[in-house]
Amino acid sequence: MDSDQLLDLAKNARLVAYSPYSGFAVGAALETASGRVFTGCNVENLSFGLTICAERNAVFAAVAAGEREFAQIVIVAESEQPVSPCGACRQVLAEFREDLPIRSVTLDGQEFATSLKELFPRPKTGILDRS
Ligand code: THU
Repeated sequence: MDSDQLLDLAKNARLVAYSPYSGFAVGAALETASGRVFTGCNVENLSFGLTICAERNAVFAAVAAGEREFAQIVIVAESEQPVSPCGACRQVLAEFREDLPIRSVTLDGQEFATSLKELFPRPKTGILDRS
């Protein structure tokens, strides 16, 4: 799918973000290898620690629908600079595709494109390695 179509879907997802504590709404649109799209928004919680990011919600929705192969993710927020996925989201994204293409865009059109590999090299090295 065209990345700009994904961006529109991410913007729509952002509109339903639940972010009363930070006031910072984020949307994400994750395209699967089969061409399906799963969106996510951040959902905050009074406990703060239970807050979940837009990116992880999109991944979990995809996996819950039986999709584990991902083509690209587009993230959108109203920030001065495009947001970069947090560490937890990087680990969750890397579970399924270590070199996932990432495009992050602000509402006023700043953007950067990268690969998860660049943001998070060696995501699995040593984990559960007991030999
Ligand atoms: N947030 C996301 O959803 N994705 C990001 O990439 C950056 C941060 C959310 C988490 C929290 O609800 C708010 O933005 C402020 O950190």
